[in-house]
Order: sequence, then C-alpha cells, then structure tokens
Amino acid sequence: TLRVGLIGFPVEHSLSPVFQQVALDALGIPARYELWPTPPAELQQRIAGLRAPGTVGANVTVPHKEAVAQLVDELAPRARRVGAVNTVIVRGQRLLGDNTDVPGFLFPLRERGLPLADLRVTLLGAGGAARAVIVALLDQGCRHLTIANRTPERARQLVAEFGIGHALTLGPELLTVLGETDLLVNATSLGWDGRASPIPLDWLGQLPPHAFVYDLTYRETPLLATARQLGRTALDGLEMLVAQGAESFRLWFEREPPFDLMLRAAQEARA
Ligand code: ATR
Repeated sequence: TLRVGLIGFPVEHSLSPVFQQVALDALGIPARYELWPTPPAELQQRIAGLRAPGTVGANVTVPHKEAVAQLVDELAPRARRVGAVNTVIVRGQRLLGDNTDVPGFLFPLRERGLPLADLRVTLLGAGGAARAVIVALLDQGCRHLTIANRTPERARQLVAEFGIGHALTLGPELLTVLGETDLLVNATSLGWDGRASPIPLDWLGQLPPHAFVYDLTYRETPLLATARQLGRTALDGLEMLVAQGAESFRLWFEREPPFDLMLRAAQEARA
C-alpha cells in the first residue's frame, strides 16, 4: 500500500483525508491518505521520513508551509515565488516542493468565467495565503490589485516584491477602493469562527452589484453572509480546498482525480 498524508499542527479537523481517500478509492489506487500531526520540533524528521519506500508525498498546512520550503531538495517556480510549500512530491530519493494553492485559488473563478486579467481585485491580508493569491493573479495577467492589511508595512512589502498594485490599511481609505472592486478576497485569518471580520460589514454595500466576495476559509464567515444578504456573489474556500487537493493528487499519482466526487465528499463532511 502507498502512503500520502497531511503534515500540520493541528490536522485533526482537516477535510483532506475525506476527499482524497474518495478519489484514491474511486480510481482503485492502493494508497491511504493519512493525518500526520507534526509539532514544529518534529518537522525536519517528518520531512526526512517522506523518503521511506511507499510514500508518495504529502500535503503541508499551518504552521509549516514556509518552513517546508526550506527543507525540500527542489522547489517548483510557483512555490519559490510564494515562498511556501503545500505539496511535497517524492521523486526517487528527491523531494520536490510545490504550491497547489496557486491553481486552487483560481479554479472557482475560472469555473464562473471571470475575466481574470481584467478584474479589479482588492485583497485583504498580506500573509502566506495572500502571497499565493498574488502569484496566481499575476500569472493571469491581473494588474489591478489593491492589498489592504492591518499592518500596512507588510502590504507595502508585497507591492515592492511583486511589483504590482498598491498598499492600504484596513481603514476608511478602503471605502473608495471597494466601490471600484470586482473581486474582494479575504486572505486574513479572520472570519472562520463565524464572528470576526477584517472590515466593517456594512462597507460591503460599497461594492458594485456584480462584485464577488471570496473568502479563503471554507466555513461561512460574516463577510460572506453579509455579501449574500446584500446581493453580491459569495464564494467560500471549499472549492479552492478541493482544487488544490486535486492538483496535488495529479502531481503525486499522475492521474486525473474525480473532482465532482471529491467536492461532494468535502461538502458532506463539512455539513
Ligand atoms: P496566513 O499564512 O494564513 O496568511 P499569516 O501569515 O499569519 O497567516 O497572516 C495572517 C493575516 O491575517 C495577516 O494579513 C494579518 O494581518 P497583519 O499582517 O497585520 O498581522 C491578518 N490578521 C490576523 N489577525 C487580524 C486581525 N485581528 N485584524 C486584522 N487582520 C488580521
């Protein structure tokens, strides 16, 4: 039996084992997707352990994505640009680090036919999740980007590093920008608890009626609930989660996974 698993801390509530195992079983691949809870002190050992026979690779999640980028033998270009790895692929004795959050983020937007190059995007947050969003949007030719963050210095650093967009705080100067936003992305860590929001919820009323509000967490957040109430299109992170997993699956097994089956399994497991 082959093995693949999720490295993070904690990992217990992850949906990945559910939809990955569904895909493995549907294709008759003799492999198990396991949970590999890994405190930071054990990370190096865990990554080295991937070289054991029968291990195909791993997903990596909080808090290890940046650290693993330093521990693999080789980085895919997009993982290097993001500075974080969410997928490790075992190639012989070598470990390749990739970042499938990049295509995963784009998948639901493509599905809905959004003209990515022409979108005016406002990104809330400037951490690791935001970096994957920026790399994804840049690759689509998107140039109209505002990065708003509680700590504006971090947003300014991203603007300088990627040479795109302009930086703001989460303060009222954002209001005018929202009026000219086609896609608002929440890449802050606020909202998954169902309570917090990075910006006052009534600000969403500034968005044009056609605007999308995309929250990278796969739970219903106050931001999404309000967007929907106000008649905007709300998009949670569940499709992104499954899409990044499907891309990881392709890299590990070089087979096309049954996406719809995986998404349905994830939806049922979340409910
Ligand atoms: P991740 O890898 O998930 O992006 P991160 O790198 O810790 O995690 O980034 C968290 C993001 O959420 C940051 O943009 C952070 O803002 P700061 O850069 O100012 O820290 C944002 N964030 C976290 N808590 C927040 C809060 N209470 N209010 C506003 N933004 C917050």
